[in-house]
Amino acid sequence: MIQWVDKLREQRKLQPEELRLLLTEYDAGQLEYINRQAREVCQQQFGNKIYIRGLIEISNCCRNNCYYCGIRKGNPHVKRYRLSEESILACCRQGYDLGFRTFVLQGGEDPALTDERIEKLVSSIRQNYPDCAITLSLGEKSREAYERFFRAGANRYLLRHETFDECHYRKLHPQEMSLPHRLQCLQDLKEIGYQTGTGIMVGSPWQTVENIIEDILYIERLKPEMIGIGPFLPHSDTPLSGYSAGSLELTLLLLSIFRLMHPSALIPSTTALATLSPDGRQRGILAGANVVMPNLSPPDERCNYALYDNKASLGAESAEGLAILQKQLQEIGYEISKERGDSPSQTITKDKS
Ligand code: 5AD
Repeated sequence: MIQWVDKLREQRKLQPEELRLLLTEYDAGQLEYINRQAREVCQQQFGNKIYIRGLIEISNCCRNNCYYCGIRKGNPHVKRYRLSEESILACCRQGYDLGFRTFVLQGGEDPALTDERIEKLVSSIRQNYPDCAITLSLGEKSREAYERFFRAGANRYLLRHETFDECHYRKLHPQEMSLPHRLQCLQDLKEIGYQTGTGIMVGSPWQTVENIIEDILYIERLKPEMIGIGPFLPHSDTPLSGYSAGSLELTLLLLSIFRLMHPSALIPSTTALATLSPDGRQRGILAGANVVMPNLSPPDERCNYALYDNKASLGAESAEGLAILQKQLQEIGYEISKERGDSPSQTITKDKS
């Protein structure tokens, strides 16, 4: 297996059969080896700096009914909330004062958050924080809507494709949702000029090694600036409550594979990884991740944005806990960067214009 890791580092690419071997035949020692290779590649690009993004969960209302997600429309136990523009701007203010230079507005596909409202919100943040990056993670919208948000000042968009396999997609989502539509959204976002992020849940029910290989190859073709992957974690009020969580090791392996294939990508060590294991966030960074996204949402609402059970929101997971995060990172030889942290490719394009 070591030879495939070395080849992946050198050529940034493997044949599907080689990926299959990598994904099925690793042991603890080999995982440590690929994690180290990925770490080195990451450090060549970014040094020992970890970018921070302030995550604001702006609404937990959602019109969709994804079978894995705790805030699905069909879950009657969620206390629904929607932050006002004023409250979101207050989160940004607090975040800015703490040193955040990227705000990530994440939410369900909330019909009350019309394109107009989102556009206005983005404009206000852009006006107040001209030096900050604005990332949206608000699901599937029309191309026109994505264009409006972009013109209003949004820079980045996160939309995981979740799985590239149609059959697998159908098992995780109800009929009215569509994989081709999701992929079209990602294409539109890229064409409009967003720094675009996609990704998958690792170990979601029915996921096969073949599925993961297809995901890796899709991401290789899309060349997203950001890649978000975390373990699937069951939520007790969803149809998939009985399934077990994704594996920590496979998540770390995939983080390293993505780092070796996409040296300059922005790859977060996700909250789901930190929820799965007490040292998950650190291990994600040691596997090649270079971003963390502490929670800037109003503390009273955080518990209501439960995509899965026991979602971490305390300590280093929270914006107030930046000192704890700093200490955790220092322990493993890293430090927080308060730079905006655009993807290198995007920076080059901007300098030319
Ligand atoms: N476990 C892990 N990740 C989840 N997400 C949604 N539900 C779960 C879950 N049960 C992820 C999806 C989505 C992102 C916002 O959160 O990948 O794109």
